[in-house]
Amino acid sequence: MTRFLSSSVFLVQLIMLLPWLSIASLEPKKSQTYIIHMDHSLKPEHFSNHESWHQHTVKSLSSACVEDKETFLYSYTHVMHGFSAKLTSCQLAELEKLPAHITTYKESFGKMFTTHTPRFLGLNRGSGIWPTASYGKDAIIGVIDTGIWPESESFNDKGMSEVPSRWKGKCENGTAFSPSLCNNKLIGARSFSKGLQAAGINISTEYDFDSARDYFGHGSHTSSTAAGNEGRNQGSRVLTMVTKTCNYVYGASHFGYANGVAKGIAPRAHLAMYKVLWLSDTEVSAATDVLAGMDQAISDGVDIMSLSLGFDNTPLFKDVIAIASLSAIEKGIVVVCAAGNDAAPASIHNGAPWIMTVGAGTLDRSYIATLELGNGLNFEGTSYFPMSVSITNRHLYYGSNDTRVGGCKYLPRDQVKGKVVLCDDSNLDLNGQMQTVILSGAYAAIFLSESLLLDPEEYSLPGVVLHTRYAKAIKEYATTSNNTIVKSMRFGLTKTGTGPAPQVAYFSSRGPDPITPSVLKPDILAPGVDVLGAVRPDVSYIEAGRYELVSNYMLMSGTSMAAPHVAGIAALVKAVHRDWSPAAIRSAMVTTATKTDNTLGTIRDQWNGEIATPLAFGAGLVNPNGAMDPGLIYDMGPQDYINFLCGLGYTATQMSTILRSSQWSCENRTDLNYPTFIANFSNQTTLLSEKQFTRTVRNVGDHASTYRASLKVPPGMILEVEPNTIKFTNKYQEQKFVLTIRVGQHIPKVNYGYLEWIDEHNHIVSSPIVVLKD
Ligand SMILES: *[C@@H]1O[C@H](CO)[C@@H](O)[C@H](O)[C@H]1NC(C)=O
Ligand SMILES: *[C@@H]1O[C@H](CO)[C@@H](O)[C@H](O)[C@H]1NC(C)=O
Ligand SMILES: *[C@@H]1O[C@H](CO)[C@@H](O)[C@H](O)[C@H]1NC(C)=O
Ligand SMILES: *[C@@H]1O[C@H](CO)[C@@H](O)[C@H](O)[C@H]1NC(C)=O
Ligand SMILES: *[C@@H]1O[C@H](CO)[C@@H](O)[C@H](O)[C@H]1NC(C)=O
Ligand SMILES: *[C@@H]1O[C@H](CO)[C@@H](O)[C@H](O)[C@H]1NC(C)=O
Ligand SMILES: *[C@@H]1O[C@H](CO)[C@@H](O)[C@H](O)[C@H]1NC(C)=O
Repeated sequence: MTRFLSSSVFLVQLIMLLPWLSIASLEPKKSQTYIIHMDHSLKPEHFSNHESWHQHTVKSLSSACVEDKETFLYSYTHVMHGFSAKLTSCQLAELEKLPAHITTYKESFGKMFTTHTPRFLGLNRGSGIWPTASYGKDAIIGVIDTGIWPESESFNDKGMSEVPSRWKGKCENGTAFSPSLCNNKLIGARSFSKGLQAAGINISTEYDFDSARDYFGHGSHTSSTAAGNEGRNQGSRVLTMVTKTCNYVYGASHFGYANGVAKGIAPRAHLAMYKVLWLSDTEVSAATDVLAGMDQAISDGVDIMSLSLGFDNTPLFKDVIAIASLSAIEKGIVVVCAAGNDAAPASIHNGAPWIMTVGAGTLDRSYIATLELGNGLNFEGTSYFPMSVSITNRHLYYGSNDTRVGGCKYLPRDQVKGKVVLCDDSNLDLNGQMQTVILSGAYAAIFLSESLLLDPEEYSLPGVVLHTRYAKAIKEYATTSNNTIVKSMRFGLTKTGTGPAPQVAYFSSRGPDPITPSVLKPDILAPGVDVLGAVRPDVSYIEAGRYELVSNYMLMSGTSMAAPHVAGIAALVKAVHRDWSPAAIRSAMVTTATKTDNTLGTIRDQWNGEIATPLAFGAGLVNPNGAMDPGLIYDMGPQDYINFLCGLGYTATQMSTILRSSQWSCENRTDLNYPTFIANFSNQTTLLSEKQFTRTVRNVGDHASTYRASLKVPPGMILEVEPNTIKFTNKYQEQKFVLTIRVGQHIPKVNYGYLEWIDEHNHIVSSPIVVLKD
């Protein structure tokens, strides 16, 4: 079973390159999969629907090039006008001559973004958005992921309202899945794999299921974060024993850590799973399948879509998630996507301006072990060792001067067996040292490390990682005599309220957005490190000693885990404000986000502990209660995005590919009515350069109010707002303002400040302003 885990973890971290595609394209007779955009206005009238037209179009091709049989995959209805099919280059050439043909894109492959949440975000029963939004009642969240484990306690439907009558989705039958597994919580479950199969990619029959059932736990985890029912679950230890008490999943925990009540962000929202990620030796998700899943989600009637996956970055007109999301947004569906785990600057994924792009932050929770030495000194360090073992009076081994050079690279078995080993090289890979310790027969280990950590699944022996600031004291004791001991070590402890938190997770992809750098991405930060969520309970993710451990709930990390938090909050905001557009809901979250950590300092970077910038955290940590009552919103509609696309200088063909239409009208505008500001002055040639942004804000507060602009101005520049006071005499009134940025020639590379509109009713409508200079 561990093979399952390691291969999946490997998949998660794969950077998808597509060498085989370019090789295949050289062979004219070999077929491959294409996404074909068609001009819907040229559909002959005798076809009753677009699907029969698409199929007929493909069938009629083969006449001249019969070498390889064509395979029709999907006809798309909502996400785009067109279809996907497996064609030879000869068939494709014929197809591309048809007047109705617009563009062709090759199949591509994507990956998932994984590597006491609600309370940390300020959600509570007594007041705020939870009771006001009735916990997300009636909202439907569509999750595009690896499938779902329907029996998980997080997906029980106690206390859930009936399936909304507008819902058109269903639960498909399939391997280990049947419609009877759905209920009033899980109201839809479908799977899409034609694209992967057409590409000749073998889906694992050993571990995966030909149905919406989850093979990895990723989709169950994201679903339970967005809208898992409240629950506790008794003892998710070596053996799984679920005790139902009312509708609580009792004591949900990761092997005893993070013990508590597992609860989704919108616990009364309905869930629908669209499985598009599969377990195979290579790619995990095909673009054609993702398009099909999103198409079906729109057709079924979801309110929110959550995607914790992505593809290599391409321009928007080739980006299937961007294209499908624009169609979703036109129908009022909020699309929330993970920003990616690439860590580097300008590595954002899913940054289209109509998508809510979410980065990952840490939680205020630490998993710890304690250590007491023979001389009475006590230490506390990080440990995820999955059992609450207690170690007393064991010999401490620190080697001789020779053997300890380079940390635990080599350990003499005869001297180490049964002892607690101290590994003191803070630069050596910790997992490598852990492996050496395990092989040596040691009993437990202490690792000294400044910044390196072990992943939860790497603690297969009781180990604690201590900060190097304790190194001196520990080494001093370890070298005093030949008979040093560890008086006690205790594992399985969880501390909450630790700080500073959030920090930007070290892996979270950073802005600027490589495709549309004029829009600040990510939009926002949500918890994405050590998030507890439901998983597949019948496979082992962790081993300890000779045992493979299973659990109903697991800690997982990634922007994959951050996106569903925001999807859940979008469901709550929508439940309170049913008429708000996706842009309005995003604006409400962005302008109310928390800019400080829990020590009231600026949000820091987990990578180096230094102050982070909005290029890493966007507007800050999402704040659900604030988002319910933002005061003002910066709204946008589909036409604004069309104008923006025109401003990017796309050709007519590229435009029609994104817009599903051969006709549109637009003004060239590169500036959207976005609730954040970013300017790049790298091309500045004069002493003083200037950029202006025009924005329109709408009063969504219940009162007449007067807002005054407050500017936090970074050094070396001048910010101005005109007018700097705006009066609203009634709700829904709109006002315009212009923000002017003037910079001199000598400023740092990344600068940021804030524009805050503050009224007399305690609204603070805050927007980050980022200024870049090379
Ligand atoms: C549902 O799927 C199972 C397993 O694939 C199969 O045995 C059963 O006949 C299917 N039922 C229907 C109604 O298709
Ligand atoms: C899929 O499985 C078949 C049969 O086992 C094998 O011939 C083929 O090479 C596999 N394809 C890939 C991409 O691994
Ligand atoms: C071990 O190293 C310490 C400090 O580097 C030194 O004082 C001590 O003499 C060394 N002991 C032996 C046996 O080499
Ligand atoms: C440690 O053991 C060695 C050999 O076993 C011995 O020579 C040395 O004196 C001992 N040192 C102490 C401090 O007990
Ligand atoms: C938009 O700008 C492009 C070039 O940037 C130009 O070709 C096009 O005519 C402009 N369209 C409008 C409507 O101004
Ligand atoms: C230079 O940068 C400014 C600020 O981003 C922008 O408005 C302007 O269009 C750029 N000019 C050129 C020539 O790229
Ligand atoms: C800013 O714009 C310049 C071109 O004017 C570009 O080379 C540079 O990469 C941009 N900087 C960032 C951080 O996007």
